[in-house]
Amino acid sequence: MEVVIVPDAKAGGELIAEAMAQLLRRKPGALLGVATGSTPLPVYEALAAKVCSGAVDVTRARIAQLDEYVGLPADHPESYRSVLRREVLEPLGIGMDQFMGPDGTAEDVQGACEAYDKVLADAGGVDLQLLGIGTDGHIGFNEPCSSLASRTRIKTLTEQTRIDNARFFDGDIDQVPHHVITQGIGTILEARHLVLLATGEGKADAVAATVEGPVAAVCPASALQLHPHATVVVDEAAASKLKLADYFRYTYANKPEWQGI
Ligand code: PGA
Repeated sequence: MEVVIVPDAKAGGELIAEAMAQLLRRKPGALLGVATGSTPLPVYEALAAKVCSGAVDVTRARIAQLDEYVGLPADHPESYRSVLRREVLEPLGIGMDQFMGPDGTAEDVQGACEAYDKVLADAGGVDLQLLGIGTDGHIGFNEPCSSLASRTRIKTLTEQTRIDNARFFDGDIDQVPHHVITQGIGTILEARHLVLLATGEGKADAVAATVEGPVAAVCPASALQLHPHATVVVDEAAASKLKLADYFRYTYANKPEWQGI
């Protein structure tokens, strides 16, 4: 696992957008796995700026969703399909025909989960999966004690995650669905490159458990330790509880530039 400590969220966004741009230059039809939440926004802004300036062409890029609320109509402004359309697809000029996601409105939820795993596999797998992290260490919506081998399935959100997400629902926790479909941890680990971005002091404990704690289902993000190509990008605040922070700074500062992340 590589840990890159950046000065702030904007620098993290730029670093990851550049990794996505390099991937797309190498593989124009790459499948990018994207995440929702506040943290990834600087990545999408930086990538959109690169598209605008002509630094990267995304006309053949494909976008895959990580998780979705169960029961919100697809056109609800806070369904993750709507959020991603607004925050990723439209700014990048990518059409819905190049987008794949699970159906959070399906009557047969389990069938929708299995179907989505198949869609991802048939698409050749995710090339780069961007991840945020919950204050409880979740990735996607794999809450603590999710199986590290889990596939896409329905999960019940913790009270803490519903509190954290109430800000997207007029601050009203009662509007936050209880259930979600999420790519499983086993599904996520199949992506070729995992890039987790964490910013702010509120994520410092979860980041320390992810990077320096044991691999344990109680901290789902610690599963990144099992992946051959995982990059954790953190700002100074999110890195503040890392015991090996100086070592991470040293290794990144001495890394050959051609290696990228
Ligand atoms: P946030 O959410 O980026 O809004 O903090 C992260 C997550 O829950 O994965």
